Amino acid sequence: MKILAIETSCDETAIAILEAEGGFENPQFKLIADNLNSQIELHREYGGVYPTIAKREHTKNLIPVLEKTLKDAQVLRYIVVPEGVGINIDKKKKEEVEKILEREPELLATFLDFIPTIEKPDIDYIAVTQGPGLEPALWIGLNFAKALSVFWDIPFIPVNHMEGHVLSVLWDEKKDSRFKIQDSRKIRFPALALLISGGHTQLVLMQDWLQYEIIGETQDDAVGEAFDKVARMMGLPYPGGPEISALANKTRNLDVGRLNSEFEKKFNLPKPMIHSGNCHFSFSGLKTSILYKIKDLDLDDEVKAQMAREFEDTVVEILLKKTERAIEENEVKTLIIGGGVIANKEIRKAFQKFAEEKELNLLIPEMKLTGDNAIMIGIAGYFRALKNPKGVDIDGIRADGNLRLK
Ligand code: KG4
Ligand code: ZN
Repeated sequence: MKILAIETSCDETAIAILEAEGGFENPQFKLIADNLNSQIELHREYGGVYPTIAKREHTKNLIPVLEKTLKDAQVLRYIVVPEGVGINIDKKKKEEVEKILEREPELLATFLDFIPTIEKPDIDYIAVTQGPGLEPALWIGLNFAKALSVFWDIPFIPVNHMEGHVLSVLWDEKKDSRFKIQDSRKIRFPALALLISGGHTQLVLMQDWLQYEIIGETQDDAVGEAFDKVARMMGLPYPGGPEISALANKTRNLDVGRLNSEFEKKFNLPKPMIHSGNCHFSFSGLKTSILYKIKDLDLDDEVKAQMAREFEDTVVEILLKKTERAIEENEVKTLIIGGGVIANKEIRKAFQKFAEEKELNLLIPEMKLTGDNAIMIGIAGYFRALKNPKGVDIDGIRADGNLRLK
């Protein structure tokens, strides 16, 4: 089965085509093509993602990214018409597309300029992120996917972005061509997913495929958000996660004995809710504590690096503690970690060690699939298509910035 997947929930316009087979028993994937257009450079100027800019960029980028992906997949064929004869667009389909893209006139114009000039590609499903994320950005991708689905008569599959992050761990980049998922990439239930991204920090219990129960989540900031905010306080650019991590690594790699002895204990960062007796998280107190310390301390580069390291260590400790609790309470067999923050090397290392000690099956995504991407939307789309072979009626589906896993 071939899936065209589209992701526009935040600041990446991503499209992938993948082939999947094997069902729930033995899912296998092959990547045919994928392209991602990141807006990070644009948003960096503002210190965060601006929804209106994200929307404008998705509108501009969707058609070029699609064209490139179809071309890479070798399924791009232009319709040949005799000279002087215009392309014949099915009137009814054109009207339907006009209705779907009523609120996106620019996207409608580029859609009608390009899509009718190419042949319908050999694709079985169109999967797209429905939420959560920035609503203006989500709407663009969602409506674009609806229009394609109607124009090409291809079943439509809406996908929860967080389900994409969960199932991103199934991907094995080393076996890029057709491959069988190895033992280490098999989910054994009950499974627990720790989702850590810019908008989410959740512990999600899975008793089976596509069944989710959120058993813990942040009561305030998401962990990625905390990284971004702390970075901003230190004058570092957006996104802050990689910046903090790079800074922290300086003190891990170098001998900074002066700082270690002088400041290590002094920082004494709080670990909010660590003993709360449940699986919930809180990161805003940690962030605020750093804000005060920044005001109190002379923030030279070395002190900054030390603070970044202690922040990172504290985050690791909180994540481990809450995950351990959830695992013990639910007799978990597989631990999945997904979301942009699992790009963090210290967090990866800490969980690898943890899983070894607990003899847990740990699944973390390839680096390429930690951040937002369309491949994970295609993977989730595959399982949703298995459940819904005819696809989903486009009419009832609205972009939902707060869509929850269930
Ligand atoms: O999943 P994602 O790409 O987008 C959302 O769905 O939110 O996650 C983005 C988040 C940002 O907050 C970013 O700072 C964080 O992931 N992040 C990191 C690292 N790389 C990205 N946080 C910590 N360490 C990293 N190396
Ligand atoms: Zn994400």
